[in-house]
Amino acid sequence: MKLHFHAEKNWLNDPNGLVQLHGWYHLFYQYNPHGLEWGDIHWGHARSRDLYRWEHLPVAMAPDAARGELHCFSGSCCKDADGQPHFYYTSIGSEADGRSHVDGAQQWMAEPTDDTLTVLKQTDAYALKADMHGSLTVKDWRDPCVVPYGDGYIMVLGGCADHRGCVLLYTSDDMKHWTYRHVLAQGETADDVPWECPNLCFVDGKAVIFYSPCREVAYQVGTLDEALCFHKEKQGLLDPAGRDAFYAPQVLRDEAGRAILMGWMPECDGGADAARRGWNGCMAMPRLLSIRHGNLYAALLDGWQAWCEPCRSYALHAGEAMQEKAGQHYVLQTALKAGETMTIAVLATPEGADLAEETCITMTAGAAHVCAAIDRTRSSQLKEASVRPLAVQAALEHGLAEVTLVVEENTVELCVNGRWLSARVYPGRQAEELRIACTGNREVRLFIMR
Ligand code: FRU
Repeated sequence: MKLHFHAEKNWLNDPNGLVQLHGWYHLFYQYNPHGLEWGDIHWGHARSRDLYRWEHLPVAMAPDAARGELHCFSGSCCKDADGQPHFYYTSIGSEADGRSHVDGAQQWMAEPTDDTLTVLKQTDAYALKADMHGSLTVKDWRDPCVVPYGDGYIMVLGGCADHRGCVLLYTSDDMKHWTYRHVLAQGETADDVPWECPNLCFVDGKAVIFYSPCREVAYQVGTLDEALCFHKEKQGLLDPAGRDAFYAPQVLRDEAGRAILMGWMPECDGGADAARRGWNGCMAMPRLLSIRHGNLYAALLDGWQAWCEPCRSYALHAGEAMQEKAGQHYVLQTALKAGETMTIAVLATPEGADLAEETCITMTAGAAHVCAAIDRTRSSQLKEASVRPLAVQAALEHGLAEVTLVVEENTVELCVNGRWLSARVYPGRQAEELRIACTGNREVRLFIMR
């Protein structure tokens, strides 16, 4: 792995506490320092100048056994008016102590001991407890996201209220004392499935909510009125891969004011390949959020080019296949016009190889939309690997679909006109061929990672 962050070893899940401080981007993440499976959750830590090249740092926060804490679940960072970062997360203890994740979760703060953010010291002095909701029963309450709003601050939390997954909203003037306000958004079915890792952010004048409801990550674009009620205008999925490859994303507001999305790419082979590699789970490529035609748009964040060789350009002729030994680490860019079809086989073994492998991406552009699908039925020899069909649809813009594809060993991420589809795959070492065919004459730009 070169551009995708993963832990040096062991288990990783959600990105946490994303913040940029004095130029450094800090990524904290759900981490089990003791094993390849989920458990004993700490906050791992890394920093980067560009969100692509990461430096591993010591674990920043460990469960506070003296206070009965067993896990430090997900959370976020918010700067105060002076630019000082404060961290919020969900503290989980034992069932015997009434502190289980189902009905005993509390929201705690953690303060960095200095600007390097190397140590986050947790405190339960301002703990938020579930009884603050009055007559409303909230279960699986977790994952605080705090943002500045007006002269104060808003916190959103995920959970289940009266058996329906939801995002709950709280306000504070001092970042310490919080008041529960109301349910900001809620699912329709009483299925007891919590909405995890909710985020509220403001992008190009719109309020954007997204959450991870134990399946595909959903978003809503709208406005927040004076009473802090949300009015939905658009909705959709951030990435249809869901638990197979893109989950629990968090937005980072950087020092330039950009809204950047970082998500977790879980394994989808039951951890079979992780045992060989020594690490389980990685982060997706960072995506820059904006609003286009009133809807959410995500583009691959610039900066990756610095880690690639100079671009190689290929002219693709209608009906003729292009073939290249591109390896397992590259970014590919091309475009597709209304009425055209393109197939891209990545991580493919050479013709005649004993074990034929390939991950096949098909894009079909109609008059107004393009449908893209990733076929993993031949991606690997691993029988545990998921081969669930993956597909996404995007609107054409001026009759065109702009395509960016990032391939790195066992991650494939496709972006078509701001819509994403991610996949985890487990090819063998020989799967280095790239084959492309299109019904139109197109150009392909290939950037091989150094
Ligand atoms: C999402 C999640 C969060 C929780 C964390 C625990 O993947 O379940 O809701 O805080 O992971 O590791």
